[in-house]
Amino acid sequence: MSAGTESKTNREKFLEEMQKIAAEAAKKTPEELVFNYKGVLYPSSICSEETFQALQSLEAREDDLLAVTYPKSGTNWVTKVLHEMLILVHNREITVDHAMLEFGKPEKVKYLKGQPSPRLFSTHMYYDDVPKSYFEKKTKFLLILRNPKDTAVSYFHFSNSNPVLPSFSTWDEFFRAYMDGKVCYGSYFDHAVDWNKRIDDENIMAITFEEMKEDYLSQLKRISDFFGLSLTEEQLALIESKTTFKSMKEKSGDSHGKLGNVFFRKGEIGDWRNHFTEEQSKEVDAKFEECLAGTKLGQMLNYDKYCKF
Ligand code: A3P
Repeated sequence: MSAGTESKTNREKFLEEMQKIAAEAAKKTPEELVFNYKGVLYPSSICSEETFQALQSLEAREDDLLAVTYPKSGTNWVTKVLHEMLILVHNREITVDHAMLEFGKPEKVKYLKGQPSPRLFSTHMYYDDVPKSYFEKKTKFLLILRNPKDTAVSYFHFSNSNPVLPSFSTWDEFFRAYMDGKVCYGSYFDHAVDWNKRIDDENIMAITFEEMKEDYLSQLKRISDFFGLSLTEEQLALIESKTTFKSMKEKSGDSHGKLGNVFFRKGEIGDWRNHFTEEQSKEVDAKFEECLAGTKLGQMLNYDKYCKF
């Protein structure tokens, strides 16, 4: 879940608001922390059915930028990259105080309509819930994928540190919920299968967390080219230095307040090996085989390289 980045005053207001929400959430029971929308769980402290519905009236603009992720796949990383890119291209601050499309009250839609271009959004939504006009206008989407095992581990730690999400007493308990789609935003695999249906759309480009980790500058160039931002090599190198894990973690107190260390935990590939039993690993392998093997999205995940013992 992305908090975005923006000018200090907006940022401070945003963090204060998030703190209030977290304090209220801490008083809720696990059942109260979530609501069910179309069979999928969502965090009730930050999302609502009314906002999902209100978003349908949001008019897409051709120059909006949209980053789509399943939770814990690098949302905040890519949002920061896009934000830094826009600042360089437009040579001014770009407000992204409502970056996460589905977070907040329904009234936000009116506010977003009044925001100047370019607007930068991120979302974890399924494609049916993204405002229809985004597909009609062929607004560009950047889809960020992360291997399902590291995503699970990241989500486990996040759930246990973020009061807006139900927590889990053990890794095993979390693993079961993750595999059964009983975590917020539902099953990793349902989400991936859903977006795989759109993967050949000309306005969608997919990149992986792992590619970003291993060949960062090339991926930054791909992102810049995809959005037609024409950044120079020097500018890309500057963005690279501002958005390394180390640099984002160091500034995470300013950008994400008390949850800074939670959003920027390890930033590595392969931490799943420290958590998964062999049986759990095989269960994910079988699910991958059933849902994603042979699909374009599945191929992009480079599963054998990143997910096999
Ligand atoms: P870990 O929990 O494995 O460390 P999201 O923003 O979608 O919530 O994703 C969070 C994950 O992305 C966390 O993974 C976080 O550490 C990682 N991350 C965030 N910024 C990063 C960066 N600049 N480089 C590498 N990983 C990053």
